[in-house]
Amino acid sequence: MNIGLLGFGTVGKGVYDITATHPDLQVTRVLCRRDLTLPDAQVTHDFYDILNDESIDTVVEVLGGLHPAWDYVKAAILAGKNVVTANKALVNHFYDELIPLVEQSGVKFRCTAAVGGGIGWLTELERVKRIDTLSKVGGIMNGTCNYILDNMTTKGLDYGVALKQAQELGYAEADPSADVDGPDTWNKTIISANIAFDVSLDKTSVPVCGIRNISAVDVAEFTKRGYVCKMIGTAEKGEHGISAYVQPTLVPNGEPAAAVPMNYNLISMVGSNSGPRSLFGQGAGRYPTAYNVVQDCVDVLNGVGFYASYGQPVAANNDVALSYYVRGASDAWLEGNVSESWGEGVLTKPVAVAEMHAWLKQHPDAFIAAVN
Ligand SMILES: NC(=O)c1ccc[n+]([C@@H]2O[C@H](COP(=O)([O-])OP(=O)(O)OC[C@H]3O[C@@H](n4cnc5c(N)ncnc54)[C@H](OP(=O)(O)O)[C@@H]3O)[C@@H](O)[C@H]2O)c1
Repeated sequence: MNIGLLGFGTVGKGVYDITATHPDLQVTRVLCRRDLTLPDAQVTHDFYDILNDESIDTVVEVLGGLHPAWDYVKAAILAGKNVVTANKALVNHFYDELIPLVEQSGVKFRCTAAVGGGIGWLTELERVKRIDTLSKVGGIMNGTCNYILDNMTTKGLDYGVALKQAQELGYAEADPSADVDGPDTWNKTIISANIAFDVSLDKTSVPVCGIRNISAVDVAEFTKRGYVCKMIGTAEKGEHGISAYVQPTLVPNGEPAAAVPMNYNLISMVGSNSGPRSLFGQGAGRYPTAYNVVQDCVDVLNGVGFYASYGQPVAANNDVALSYYVRGASDAWLEGNVSESWGEGVLTKPVAVAEMHAWLKQHPDAFIAAVN
């Protein structure tokens, strides 16, 4: 396999290093903005050097972002090149164009590292589906949020201090919004649901809220009551269709998710025969992530393509009612739904997930967490 590698950052350098020890996977050209010299590959600033190189059969996209990454991926597929990417934003955003294009063109496309970085979650979904039916997928999919929440829980830190620490250690970006406000978990939840249930979820029907407004008083209250707050994405097939949502969630102490430390991920599924199962590991990091990008290259070399057929577009109906801890705002609707006082906040009676998220949009300074 001759690989054109788009991007030479955290993951790109990892892919280059791992493939260097596998003679059947050769990175022959690298697209990068910096001036760089590599012993075994030509470095270019011009994507067309890679697109027009007929000896390159596979493009590995690890640039990140939507553009120009999508323009390059699309051009590579149209030119008959296989594509491997770790870019969850790209896969989720362009799913309805990307997967049909891959199917029509006959190239191979893989994106295992896009969900759960080093874990290999999507390949496990693919494997389960050969003999089982999945009814639920999701879990802790964002290491930055988990690092912050774990430090708040175990060390009593306030949100701002825990975030700063995560930034200093390289677990959080200078602009942490894609992690702490939930879009990263949202992308991963929707991709997982699409593959698990062979559908294409209507993204606008999947609500998301993050951890930005959590405070030490919330965490102290949860600890007192035997709960740990985790950022969790959920997609579940029920009687009335699929429910999908992303939100801070209170997990009872003693459950595996409550014990997930540091920046680790724990992603779970429920299969008709296999039952509930969880995969634990590093959701990010140079070599764990590059490991799965290179595993995808091996799969492509062996003729293995995408994990699912392109499925019928469907809305996630969020036909689920949950109790929520709410602090930081109130109004008549909330007062009408309170079941008890929880420290500086309240606990609601079960309310529809979509309704709670719609309320939060009107009260952006509030913090909410669902009780599992
Ligand atoms: N980091 C992780 O642990 C991890 C885990 C799972 C998935 N991912 C996904 O993997 C992808 C890459 O992440 P990363 O952490 O490796 O990002 P990164 O460290 O920021 O690296 C991105 C690389 O792409 C290059 N680049 C960006 N735009 C370019 C352009 N227009 N033309 C040429 N080169 C360009 C950058 O060049 P310069 O350095 O010259 O700017 C850099 O080399 C993202 O989609 C991310 O979501 C990452």
